[in-house]
Amino acid sequence: MRIAMIGAGYVGLVSGACLADFGHEVTCVDKDESKIAALIRGEIPIFEPGLDAIVAANLAGKRLDFTNDLAGSVAEADAVFIAVGTPSRRGDGHADLSHVYTVAREIAKALTGFTVVVTKSTVPIGTGDEVERIIREVNPAADVVVASNPEFLREGAAIRDFKFPDRIVVGTNDERGRKALNDIYRPLSLNQVPIMFTERRTAEMIKYAANAFLATKITFINEIADLSERVGANVQDVARGMGMDNRIGTKFLHAGPGFGGSCFPKDTRALIKLAQDHDVQLRIVESVLAVNENRKRAMGRKVSQVLGGNSRGKTIAVLGLTFKPDTDDMRDAPSIPLITSLLDMGAKVRAYDPAGMELARKDLPNIEYCDDAYACAKGADALVIVTEWLQFRALNLDHLKKVMVKPVIVDLRNVYRLEEMKAAGFIYESIGRPSRYFS
Ligand SMILES: NC(=O)c1ccc[n+]([C@@H]2O[C@H](COP(=O)([O-])OP(=O)(O)OC[C@H]3O[C@@H](n4cnc5c(N)ncnc54)[C@H](O)[C@@H]3O)[C@@H](O)[C@H]2O)c1
Repeated sequence: MRIAMIGAGYVGLVSGACLADFGHEVTCVDKDESKIAALIRGEIPIFEPGLDAIVAANLAGKRLDFTNDLAGSVAEADAVFIAVGTPSRRGDGHADLSHVYTVAREIAKALTGFTVVVTKSTVPIGTGDEVERIIREVNPAADVVVASNPEFLREGAAIRDFKFPDRIVVGTNDERGRKALNDIYRPLSLNQVPIMFTERRTAEMIKYAANAFLATKITFINEIADLSERVGANVQDVARGMGMDNRIGTKFLHAGPGFGGSCFPKDTRALIKLAQDHDVQLRIVESVLAVNENRKRAMGRKVSQVLGGNSRGKTIAVLGLTFKPDTDDMRDAPSIPLITSLLDMGAKVRAYDPAGMELARKDLPNIEYCDDAYACAKGADALVIVTEWLQFRALNLDHLKKVMVKPVIVDLRNVYRLEEMKAAGFIYESIGRPSRYFS
């Protein structure tokens, strides 16, 4: 099939490249001219493991190309995916749908022949109705079906998630729409991936409900971690013991500095706002968001406590800035409020991240950026592990101890074992585990 993917960001680029890999002819469209120019030169504008190889192979196979020309690619397409951003709207926290609606108008003008327009962006319930209304208003003669196909991939594992998803959700009642989406995902259904067809509004709700639930799981274990610290339990073992219950499952039960990233914060916020517009109060999701927001700066206070309650003039080394490993995405990363709170308390912060430093400079201009973990730790009064990149899981502790002013590690991802840190002679603080201070 001929597919136009509008928006070549984390979701659009990965989806476009993977659909080309399935054998479809895909054109990725973006309004960002420098992004498209880079892609045409063979440069990948984001850090996503494995993406470069898939893009290169499908460019060479002539199944994938890149353009700024939306109208041309839509005119030729059998299916047009909308994968533009839906960030939090400034001021009120609703999902900002301006990109989606702009694109819907442009698509409407360019449609020729029967076309399925598929919303892949995460959008509030009812957005598909509005996209369809806009298209029919702009181009009443268009032969079009508007479907919803929310995306569940995770940055850092995006290719695998796209190619081996737990399920594909498609929202449409239209037979031609169902057939088109079935054809697009046929390579996956051959692998027994379930395709769930449902109403358009239900598909939109599934995405928000899934993200809110996962955010709730994380926040739940974070609160249990705080209590575990006080009462002398070990939250890692608690999570393991809970997770072995099949009704609960082990995933998303890792205590940490609070969730961040390009989806959970904005999507929980948008869901709360949507519910308020319908006179429904989502008390659980509201609490999750509030608890999580508070937690990020609280992590700064936690670091300060380990330093005796006063971090003024102290040098703090931060390892990991992105909201999770294997991405360069800094959107809503917990490192930002954490570091800002340390700076507010008068600390000096130096940081190292394997992929996120270029983007981090915008949000965190007043810190020193280092070339590697040991350069970062040099002369530091404490080292804080914020993102669990693989390379931070096996640091040379003797080397660290030599270069630091004081052997203090605050591990906000619980990547080290307590005994190991004790043996290495570190003052070690982690999340939700009992023995706080050795030495
Ligand atoms: N990032 C994720 O992990 C993830 C996972 C699942 C779902 N989603 C959802 O997918 C959507 C896209 O997210 P993302 O992270 O890829 O965003 P992104 O910001 O990385 O990419 C969006 C792209 O759309 C382009 N764009 C905006 N307006 C345009 C227009 N008028 N014409 C052409 N291109 C335009 C932007 O230039 C940008 O390149 C969001 O709704 C998000 O919630 C994201």
